[in-house]
Amino acid sequence: MICLTLSQQTLEEDAELVRSNRAYIDMAELRVDYLGEEEQKKASLFPSMVDIPVILTLRRKEDGGLCTLTERHRRNILLDALDGDFAYVDIEEDVKRAEVEAKARKRGVRIIRSFHDFNGIPEDIFSRIYKLAERGDVAKAAVTPHSVADLLTLFRISDELKDVDKIIIGMGEWGIPSRILYRRCGSMLTFASSGDAIAPGQITAKELKTLYRADKVSGKTAIYGIIGNPVYHSSSPQIHNPGFQAINYDAIYLPFLVDNIRSFFALAEYLKMRGFSVTIPFKAQVLMFLGRISREVKQIGSCNTVVRVPGMWKGFNTDYYGFLSPILRDIESGRIKTALVIGAGGASKAIVWALRNRGVKVTILNRTLSRAADIAALNLCEFDTLENARKYEGTVDLVVQTTSVGLYPDFDLNPIEGFRFTGREIVYDIIYKPKMTKLLSEAAAAGCTLHYGEEMLLEQGKLQFEMFTGYHYPRGIGE
Ligand code: ATR
Repeated sequence: MICLTLSQQTLEEDAELVRSNRAYIDMAELRVDYLGEEEQKKASLFPSMVDIPVILTLRRKEDGGLCTLTERHRRNILLDALDGDFAYVDIEEDVKRAEVEAKARKRGVRIIRSFHDFNGIPEDIFSRIYKLAERGDVAKAAVTPHSVADLLTLFRISDELKDVDKIIIGMGEWGIPSRILYRRCGSMLTFASSGDAIAPGQITAKELKTLYRADKVSGKTAIYGIIGNPVYHSSSPQIHNPGFQAINYDAIYLPFLVDNIRSFFALAEYLKMRGFSVTIPFKAQVLMFLGRISREVKQIGSCNTVVRVPGMWKGFNTDYYGFLSPILRDIESGRIKTALVIGAGGASKAIVWALRNRGVKVTILNRTLSRAADIAALNLCEFDTLENARKYEGTVDLVVQTTSVGLYPDFDLNPIEGFRFTGREIVYDIIYKPKMTKLLSEAAAAGCTLHYGEEMLLEQGKLQFEMFTGYHYPRGIGE
């Protein structure tokens, strides 16, 4: 179940949020602590204003809520609210509230016994959840993972505590996979926001329902993802999930923030993942965990696609293909014979190899000359420092920008500031946020043909999709 957290100041505004999100949610949690004082007194009316089950919650400040009332006052508000037809009431683990409990039980309102840990995951989390659920209540643990290893603990809850009704929430950025794959944590529901997340790491109900289809995940659903650090800016979930849906494949693709790649492999084995994409800074680090690698990975030394094959993980590189496909025709027709590649990092390696593999003459320009020299030596090309860029004005058919200079939020930077384009060059910036980088807009002003980072992203993603699923990427989506 996807449960929308309601945090408006009036009941009517909360009801309106339920109506506008109705297609994406199965339940709602009325956060009484967010309501104005007068509205709090009328909370019992809320269940009749909406057509879904509602959880009644009046969260204390120390548990991440806004309520600073005395315990007696808080108890009275809850007792009054329980005149309404709530489906659940949330009572914190440490609160002895016989009256609230008694009234809830009498009215058939199920009790959620909750605890919050904003600093980490308590060592006794399994036994604590077990104990909370002892009296037939739903146990709720909202905890804060800080690593992939912590995340694995949350996923293990479903196996360790099979027959316990529970709600598991991994808060903060490390917890996001547990919110999306909540059913794999054995959690009865996941909390979603309507747009303005009120808890760290909350995802919108619309994303959970339509992008991830989180409520449809079962033990049979194939899990894919992207690993990186940072990773949440990635638009790969928007490529793969709609693709899976279009071919009717019971699969999900989600982002995993990773600190330690070894722990991620443990998680991937635990979740029986079928494959994943790899982004910065793991494209080289991932190699030592792979049983087999493709020819491209071997030559480029970088892997962006990992697929589960019987008994092992196999690595591929689709970046080189993604880069090449938008300009392949120009290379084959002879329109592109020479290229200037700006940058000598991981992305540059794949690009230089791709161009050289197709016979293009390449000069690499980089701030740090030695890195340019290393790639040049491996691929038989020329190299120079970035400062000498203007020496190459008017000498090349293609200019490729592979550094992070100009990337969001540094819109106004261009690594080859002052470089004059003749207008005949094809200019390709692999940055995709923003689409139109400063370098590209200068090239456009000179009349050059442009290629954008998003073309490369989509093309590498389509090939990756084929490796994940064995099917071509369906036409008409993501374009
Ligand atoms: P990636 O895998 O994305 O290529 P990387 O390996 O960290 O990332 O490489 C980053 C590239 O951007 C390098 O070419 C780097 O130049 P150096 O080798 O001199 O570090 C380049 N780069 C990053 N910041 C830069 C800056 N402010 N000016 C010029 N080049 C920069």
